[in-house]
Parts: sequence; structure tokens; C-alpha cells
Amino acid sequence: MVGKVLPAVFLSAAFHVSIVYLAVLSSYCATATPRDAGIPALARYFNTKGRYEEANPYLLDDILAINSSAAKPPSPTCTPVHLTAIIRHGTRFPTAPNIRKLYKFHSLVKTEADGDFSFLPQLKAWKMWYKEEMDGRLVAKGRADHRHLAQRLVKTFPSLLTKENLLGLRVKFTTSSKHRCVNSTLAFQQGLKEHFSIEGEHLNFTLNDALMRFFDTCARLVETVEKNKKAVEEVTRFNRGPEMKRVQEKLADRLQIPYANVTMDGVEAAFYLCAYEFTILGVNSPWCQLFDEADAQVVEYSGDLKQYWKKGFGHDINSKSSCVLFHDLFNRLSAVASQVRSDQPVSEVVTVQIGHAETLLPLLTLLGLFKDNTSLTSINFPSQLGRAFRCGQIMPYTANLLVALYDCPDGVRLQVRVNEKPVTLPGLAGPSPLYEDVKKQYHQLLTGCDQDTVCQLNNLQGQN
Ligand SMILES: *[C@@H]1O[C@H](CO)[C@@H](O)[C@H](O)[C@H]1NC(C)=O
Ligand SMILES: *[C@@H]1O[C@H](CO)[C@@H](O)[C@H](O)[C@H]1NC(C)=O
Ligand SMILES: *[C@@H]1O[C@H](CO)[C@@H](O)[C@H](O)[C@H]1NC(C)=O
Ligand SMILES: *[C@@H]1O[C@H](CO)[C@@H](O)[C@H](O)[C@H]1NC(C)=O
Ligand SMILES: *[C@@H]1O[C@H](CO)[C@@H](O)[C@H](O)[C@H]1NC(C)=O
Repeated sequence: MVGKVLPAVFLSAAFHVSIVYLAVLSSYCATATPRDAGIPALARYFNTKGRYEEANPYLLDDILAINSSAAKPPSPTCTPVHLTAIIRHGTRFPTAPNIRKLYKFHSLVKTEADGDFSFLPQLKAWKMWYKEEMDGRLVAKGRADHRHLAQRLVKTFPSLLTKENLLGLRVKFTTSSKHRCVNSTLAFQQGLKEHFSIEGEHLNFTLNDALMRFFDTCARLVETVEKNKKAVEEVTRFNRGPEMKRVQEKLADRLQIPYANVTMDGVEAAFYLCAYEFTILGVNSPWCQLFDEADAQVVEYSGDLKQYWKKGFGHDINSKSSCVLFHDLFNRLSAVASQVRSDQPVSEVVTVQIGHAETLLPLLTLLGLFKDNTSLTSINFPSQLGRAFRCGQIMPYTANLLVALYDCPDGVRLQVRVNEKPVTLPGLAGPSPLYEDVKKQYHQLLTGCDQDTVCQLNNLQGQN
């Protein structure tokens, strides 16, 4: 509603703007429950810089709550036998290049902003505290994200994540070597240690960048997408298009800064300052007042477009670059399934793998999840408002893919959850298919999808 009212109003004089803002704020506060009071209205548009809680709002009431109807086995006669959890690192500081952009826009606002925008005094009083050396490090909230996820997974899979399995080396941890991932792994383990009161024990983990940072070494991805501006031309077009131009002008009008000085980098700096202040400190900062919800939807779409063309369905190599992780997963599932069928004990009961959005999004895409009927492009923002590919829901901090196997009377069954919510794999009937049917569905990938081949630079097979 807010987003519909404000754009028209912003065409009129600036003093009207502040009146409307106050009206909007008071109605927002009046209808908000206490737990919402400090949550910016933009919070669900933060994309990959959003809180995990935005994808699962019930966690705001109890961070250790699980949705027991979403955690059910295929039937009461099935026994869980394996869990693989592939998890993005927790909440982090901005990276150094982004911190430089924050500085630039902050200094523009400090020196140039003027007029009677009601939050201007608060904006001018805001002190820049981000430092380049914070460069993408995990923050306290990020450690809590992983500690709490670990404890919820114990509740969801109580017979798999047990003290005996932990100490019996049947729970394996693998992580990207990046500090935010290693620290997320340590926080996840800390959550388990607290839960099981095994404070003294040292839990091991393995660094594996070939598996968790395949995007660095996949030449075809690096050359044709990462370093190729043409690969993201839809993003560039959208950022220069009418919707984004309007967001820039509205921002410039609020601050009484010439249009020429409010760039796309500036819009992103202000928007993500709101996001960082909120996710890192839990603060609803004055930066959040520079946008209404209609603006937020446009900036969100720009972010989703970028993820779509760099990591998602936009280019075939994006998902294919995760073939190594796909095979790692299915090799393990098949090994477990055959151990179960031959009544042997399962050797690797739980596998926890910690990486990045660049690790997880390509794999979800390879599995065919969150695929819209039409591509996300620079010209279809209005028709994509209800899109499945919404990174705030799919890929917030601590986003996770959970793959569980169950020993059922009629065979081994598989369940997939994304961010603890059950999903149905494309082409399969229902959320708990037989593992054999899953293998049939992914037959082409299981018999192909060779990492070295798809990542070769001059390879026709990897082409779209
Ligand atoms: C719990 O899970 C069920 C089944 O997936 C879903 O329908 C329901 O909306 C979930 N409840 C909450 C509070 O998210
Ligand atoms: C994270 O881990 C690194 C070592 O990998 C350590 O030096 C650092 O202090 C940890 N904490 C943060 C917040 O990065
Ligand atoms: C950790 O690794 C060491 C050396 O490989 C091994 O001796 C020890 O049992 C492992 N401990 C745990 C809890 O995984
Ligand atoms: C604003 O833009 C104009 C025109 O591009 C430029 O000359 C000026 O230096 C800019 N001012 C600031 C503060 O960036
Ligand atoms: C795609 O189209 C089909 C048929 O019109 C519809 O049932 C389905 O929900 C659509 N999927 C998405 C993700 O929009």
C-alpha cells in the first residue's frame, strides 16, 4: 500500500513529503506488533543481504523453533538414515569494494544533501563506522545464525545428529577456506557442542575449495560470465532503464542532490547501508527512510537479475559449474542407499558443507528449483513481481539445502528442504519420492555433467 501512495506524492513539494512520511510511519507503527517495531519495511527486499528470519518469520518468536509439520518423515514407518546440509555462511560485513562505495555515498550526503527531508538531521548525524579491513568477515549475528541452525537441525533430525554420531566420526564437516565460512563452521559446531554438552571435544573439519569454491576454477564460468560484461547486459539495461531512473530521481529529490550525482552505485550504497545496519546491528537506520516499498522492489529486482544471470538460470554454465558438488552429493546418497539396502551400518550419517551463495545457488539451479516460466529480463519487471526466483527467500545469509534419505518399507526415499521448508523436485510427484525415481529424473546429469568437460573454455557441450 505504502508503495502505491508515495510515488505520486513525491512529485509534489518537499514539505508534503515529510508529512506523508510521518503519516506512513505512524500508521506503520500503529499496526505493527512490538516485535516488528525495529524492522524496516524494506527488510524483505534485501536479497542476498537479507536475514534468514525473513524467509522464516516464525523464528522471530523463537529462534530455535522448528515447523514440525515441515519436518515429518515420508510416513511414520520410515526411518531417517542420512542428512546432507549444504549451507551458506552467516551474516557478514560488506566486502571492501562495497565499503568504499558506502564511503562515497555517505560523503556525498554529508556535504551535499539539503532541504527539509524529515530524516535528514539523522542521516547527517549518522557516523560511518565500517572499515575496509572488515572485508566480508562474519559478524556476531552470523555466528548466532549458524549456532541456531545447528540446534534446529538437531531437533529436526534427532536420530541423525546425535552425540554418538558426532563423537563416532559419522558427522563430517567440509568448508570453503574463506574466513567467514570457516568461522561459520566453528559456530555450527559450537551450537552442537552446547546442545550435547561436549564442551571439551575438538570437532574436525576439512577445507575443500575444489568442492565449495568451484566457481573460482571453472574457466568457462570465469571467462564467459564472471569477466564478461555482456553476460550481465540485462542487469545493465535494467539499471539504466526507466524503473531505476525513477528510484534515483526520488532519492535525489529527497536529499535535494542534483540527479547527475545520484548514480546506481549510490542507490545501492544507501539501500544496502539500510540492509547492513539492520542485519548486523538490528537497527532500523535513517538510510531505510530514503526508499519506499515501490523503490525497494525495483532495487530487489536489480539484485535478483544479477544473481539470475551470474549464478542462476541466465547462462547454462552457471549451474553446470556445480557439477562437482552435484556428483559429490549423489555419490554419497547412492552409497548410503546401497548400505541401507544391504543392511550395513551407514558410515556417513550427516554431512555438513559450508560455502557461499555462489556455491549453493548454482546447485539449486542445476536441480531445477525456483525456475520461472519466463526469464528475468530488463523489460519484464512488472510481470515478474510474483517470480519464484526471489533471492531474499532463497539465498539469505545461512541459506541451506537439506537432503535427507529415509529407509521406508517400499524402498529408500528422499526429501529436500530449502531453508528448512520442503520443496518438490521438478518432474517428481510429491515431496518424498523414491530415491530410484530421483536418479531417473536426474539421469542425464548423473551420467554426464563432468566438471572438467563443462568448464573447458572451448567446449560446445557447456554452451547454452
Ligand atoms: C509449516 O509447514 C507447513 C508444511 O510445509 C506449511 O504449510 C506451513 O505454512 C508452515 N508453517 C509456518 C508457520 O511456516
Ligand atoms: C574467523 O576466523 C579467523 C581464522 O580463520 C580468525 O582469525 C578470526 O578472528 C575469526 N573471527 C572473525 C570475526 O573473522
Ligand atoms: C579429528 O581428527 C583427528 C586426526 O585425524 C582424529 O584423531 C580425531 O579422532 C578426530 N576427532 C573428531 C572428534 O573428529
Ligand atoms: C556532481 O555532478 C557534477 C556533474 O557530473 C560534477 O561536476 C560534480 O563534481 C558532482 N559533485 C559531487 C559532489 O560529486
Ligand atoms: C508456470 O506455468 C504453469 C502453467 O501455466 C503454472 O502452473 C506454474 O505455476 C508456473 N510456474 C511458475 C514458477 O510461475
